[in-house]
Amino acid sequence: MAHVRITDQRTPQERDRPFLPGAGKTWLLPFYDALTRVAGVRALHERAVELAGIEPGQAVVDVGCGTGNLSFTVLAAQPGARVTGLDPDGDALRRAARKARRRGVALTLVQGYADRIPGEDASLDHVVSSLALHHVDDDGRDAFARDALRALRQGGKITIVDFGGPASNVEDAGHSSHGPIHALRHLPRLMRSRAAQNPVVARNHGNGIIELLAKAGFDDAREVAHADHRFGRVTFVQATRPVS
Ligand SMILES: C[S@@+](CC[C@H](N)C(=O)[O-])C[C@H]1O[C@@H](n2cnc3c(N)ncnc32)[C@H](O)[C@@H]1O
Repeated sequence: MAHVRITDQRTPQERDRPFLPGAGKTWLLPFYDALTRVAGVRALHERAVELAGIEPGQAVVDVGCGTGNLSFTVLAAQPGARVTGLDPDGDALRRAARKARRRGVALTLVQGYADRIPGEDASLDHVVSSLALHHVDDDGRDAFARDALRALRQGGKITIVDFGGPASNVEDAGHSSHGPIHALRHLPRLMRSRAAQNPVVARNHGNGIIELLAKAGFDDAREVAHADHRFGRVTFVQATRPVS
């Protein structure tokens, strides 16, 4: 039977640390997978995994893994990869664990924050992250980039997919949700609105993600692809840990 486990790496102080959950509100978690399926997020995951080029046996950490969908896309493309999902949301991780058991895939899940990547120094081949960076505050973003560099081996690669990139201003639809059906019907507007209301998304605009990675010490940080979705522009950014 495939090995699935959840470990909690939060410090006692971090147990009360706030975070922005996947669908913006905790009560929307049961609908997260349906909402993102309708929004076409799977295609973003598939593109990210294709761009990452993960090889058999490689160690991958999925930062802000939520219910595990990017991790499962990695494992579908490369069943031999050793994948760890990191997220502060214990309920989302339990959903990811149930899905992994149903699929019969091995997955390690760690409850924690993006600024502490689970992995020894220079132990990872890939860090991947989908639609999570805009959930992380300023200090957390800088610490995430620095810690990803620490945990990747020389030549190891980071692949980030998130709202952002050039000319990626998102409109504020001035809208709030009143239930799951409403949220589903108005998903594009809801997501644009959420993105606009979150000041951290602004950090992704222009060269925000590229500059974040370059400042942390990554080489060759650049946008390698983008997608124009109904809910906003999505950028795919990659960089590598320098080989000294
Ligand atoms: C929109 S969801 C994306 C989930 C998944 N990566 C996907 O593509 O479906 C954003 C995720 O970021 C997580 N998150 C929020 N703050 C975080 C932090 N400081 N560190 C790591 N993950 C965080 C949320 O709990 C949520 O699961």
